[in-house]
Parts: sequence; structure tokens; C-alpha cells
Amino acid sequence: MASQRRYFIRTYGCQMNVRDSEIMAGTLAAMGWQPAAAESDADLIVVNTCAVRGTAEDHAFGYIGGLKQLKDARPGLRLAVAGCMVQEPKTVAWLKRYAPHVDVVIGTHNLHRLPEVLAEAEERQEMLVEVWQQPGPVVEALPSQRAEGVQAFVNIIYGCDKFCTFCIVPFTRGRERSREPKHIVREVEALAAQGYQDITLLGQNVNSYGHDLDPPTDLADLLEALCRVEGVRWLRFTTSHPRDFSQKLIDTIAREPRISHHVHLPVQSGSDAILKRMNRKYTRAQYLELVDRIRAAIPDVALTTDLIVGFPGETEEDFAATLDLVKRVRFDAAFTFLYSAREGTPAARWESRDPVPEAVKKERLNRLMDLQYRISWEANQQWVGKTVLAVVEGVSKKSEAMWSARTQHNKVVLVPRQADDDLRFRFVPVRITGAKTFYLTGEVAGPAEAGPRPSEAARTLPVL
Ligand code: SAM
Ligand code: SF4
Ligand code: F3S
Repeated sequence: MASQRRYFIRTYGCQMNVRDSEIMAGTLAAMGWQPAAAESDADLIVVNTCAVRGTAEDHAFGYIGGLKQLKDARPGLRLAVAGCMVQEPKTVAWLKRYAPHVDVVIGTHNLHRLPEVLAEAEERQEMLVEVWQQPGPVVEALPSQRAEGVQAFVNIIYGCDKFCTFCIVPFTRGRERSREPKHIVREVEALAAQGYQDITLLGQNVNSYGHDLDPPTDLADLLEALCRVEGVRWLRFTTSHPRDFSQKLIDTIAREPRISHHVHLPVQSGSDAILKRMNRKYTRAQYLELVDRIRAAIPDVALTTDLIVGFPGETEEDFAATLDLVKRVRFDAAFTFLYSAREGTPAARWESRDPVPEAVKKERLNRLMDLQYRISWEANQQWVGKTVLAVVEGVSKKSEAMWSARTQHNKVVLVPRQADDDLRFRFVPVRITGAKTFYLTGEVAGPAEAGPRPSEAARTLPVL
């Protein structure tokens, strides 16, 4: 394709998809493409899809359908669909039948082949589908165009071996593959040199990092190594599976001040019967015992979770056990989801036999959210009066007059924005003056810390 053409990427789903979009953006930049401000301005639109719930799929289907109008108006426009949905044969069949205006379909395991696939599609009239069903070896040194700022995502492990019975991810992302520590350290060193100081390590289950390497290693040792990288201020990691959260990791977090005191620890349900049928591989008692050990070692830890309501066969008693667990743990926040049947998973078969009625699911979700919102509000009050360091992420979406910053405990804090201050991407001490359910409010309590600011030139370079 000719140079200086413009691309637009629409991303659905989790941070791993965000990271894949950064890699696609970097790949396109290396091919001479420029980012477009909007779809209407683009010569290529890439839709990076998520299959985790029916709602995510519906949004993507609706968006892809809507692109037909743009394509009709500009036949030269190229449309590509990527991400977890296309790993499912039913999505490819749907695209062929209902969205023939799509030019390219590329899977999660062969994203690195984007240049070849786009070039091949140029020669063709009909849709080109390249979806590998199995991942190859981990591909390193792909180009990448990261978001502006001082925060960066770094993949450490791909795929998932857990096969929770409700979840599509092991089918769309394949089995676990860890990256070699040396590649991760090199990437974080390059990021730190470019001014990225707040690094989030990514994986569907970061706690099983390294078991598949030779010699094997683990997340605790990786974090230790990354704490030694000059210029890295904060290290975060997500997502943790309770089954694999080791005491060694707890001790490492407690010891190393650069590691975030925020643990996202999805529990999914408080009922042993449901946990067993979900194949989560831990009991309620084991989860509570783990929470106790984490809190004993890291008393100020912020704990968040994911919860599913209306798993097939969930009784009122099972749901009461979830409410009870939420009351006991007192999470800082929780993502709460209505169970969504995913074709091909064991729970989808149970759903057809033993579904929880839709109205009951929604009523339970409302009760759960009411409880969690009250606890989140209460948990946030404890920050009032404290002064903490926060990284300013940008102007708040709530109000132009506020900056939105994030603390090391992953709390969002809004601070007033003066006309002449430029705190964007700065680390600033903030005195917390108020607390709501979803965020804190505060005021700047000292000078912003000087530090390396990311240079525009640096961020177009490939990260090795
Ligand atoms: N790997 C993480 C873990 O172990 O919990 C998270 C994976 S998933 C991308 C994020 C969350 O989506 C899950 O924790 C779960 O709560 C939710 N989820 C996954 N499959 C779902 C389904 N079929 N219906 C509703 N929620 C689902
Ligand atoms: Fe899905 Fe379970 Fe793997 Fe998380 S651990 S990605 S919920 S299968
Ligand atoms: Fe969705 Fe795939 Fe992430 S299914 S949640 S984009 S791994």
C-alpha cells in the first residue's frame, strides 16, 4: 500500500487487546502509515474485537455492520477485523455472510503477519482470512506505538491454561506462553529510557508466569529484576489468579516499594458449589485465607475483584454466599458481570438446561452492586486527609477544570486544574480532601516531581 495513508483502530476488550492494538499501530507506522483522527479520515479501519461476553460481541458486530456505509461511500477504504472474536469459526462465518465489505480477517496468533496479510489482500477482490488456530513461538521485537504519557503495558505471558468453564479466553488466546525474562527486562529498560515510569505487566494469569520456561522462573523474581531497572518508578501487574498467588510473591510486594499495593484478585463467586462448577480450583475458605495473608503482609493493600452473577444453576443460597464474601473481604472495587453463555464452553451447555432467569440475574446484580458501591465508598473514606503521590493521566472526562490522576494503589484522584499549570504525565503529591464511590478528590500538595518526560521522537521507535 502507498505510504502516508491513514489508519484508524477501534479496540474492544481488555488491556491485552489494547496492547495488541499498540503493536498493530507500530506495525502500520513502520509501513509508513499515519494515524487518522477518526474513521471518516482513514484509508484503513481495524476492528480489534473481544469475545468475553455477548455484549462485547454485539458492540463489535454493530460497529462492523455500520462500516458498510463508509465503504460504500469510499470503495478504496480497507476494513480489517482482528482480535478474539475471529478465533471463533462462527464469527468468520458471520463476517462472510453478513459483512462481505470486510477485506481482511486476522487472528490473535498471527498478528505479526499484518504486513504480509495486508499486502496479499491488496491483490484480491474477496475477503482474506488468515486465522491460526494454534499459536506459534512467542514473537519478540515487534514494532509498537504506545499511548502518550508515562504509563506503559508490557506483556509477560500470553494465553491461559485454567479453562474456567464459563470462559472463552483459553480458546481465543491459546495455552500459556511466557516471555523470556531477558526480553521483558530489555523492553522495560527501553521504556524507562523513553520516560515511561509506571509499568503494568500483563497476562490473563500473571501468577503462573515462568512455569513453562527453561529454567522455570516466577513473577516474584521477574518483579525483583524489574525493580532494579533505572527510571522505573511503579510496577503494576494484572490479572492475578487466586490459585497461583504465592507467599513468595506476597513477600516480594511487601518488601519492594516500587511494586503497587493494588491486587486485582478475581473471585467470581462466594459459593463453593459454584466455584467448583466454574473450575476455579480454589474454595471460598482458601480465597479468604489468601486475602488474610495478603493483608497481613501488606496492610494498606487495595483489593479489587471480578464477580459473575447468574452462573447456570446459581441458587439464592449461592448468591447469598457471594454477598457474604463481599461483606467479609470489603473489596475496594469490583467489576460485576451478568453471566453470558459462550458457545463451546461447558457452562454454555449447562445454561441451556439450567439457566437463571434473566430477571433474577438482573435483580441479583443490582443487589450486589448496591452492596459493593457502599463498601467502595466507605473504603475510599480512609484516604481522606492523607497525602499521596499520583501520576496525572490527563484532563478529567468529568470536568475540564480537573486533572485525573492515579495513585500507586490504583485510585483515581481528581485535582483542580489551573489555567497555567501543565501537570500532564507528572508525578505530584496530592492531599486527599474527599472520597466518592469511584474516585477521590484532592489538591496538589507540593511541586510536581521533575522527571524524564517522554519524547515524541522516542515513542515511534520499535521497542525491543
Ligand atoms: N484471567 C482473569 C481471571 O482469571 O479472572 C480475567 C479474565 S476475563 C478477561 C475478565 C473477567 O470477565 C473475568 O474475571 C470474569 O469475571 C468475566 N467473564 C469471563 N467470562 C465471562 C462470561 N462468560 N460471562 C460473564 N463474565 C465473564
Ligand atoms: Fe478465563 Fe479463567 Fe483463564 Fe481468567 S483464568 S482467562 S477467567 S479461563
Ligand atoms: Fe476479550 Fe480477548 Fe481480552 S476475549 S477480555 S479481548 S483476551
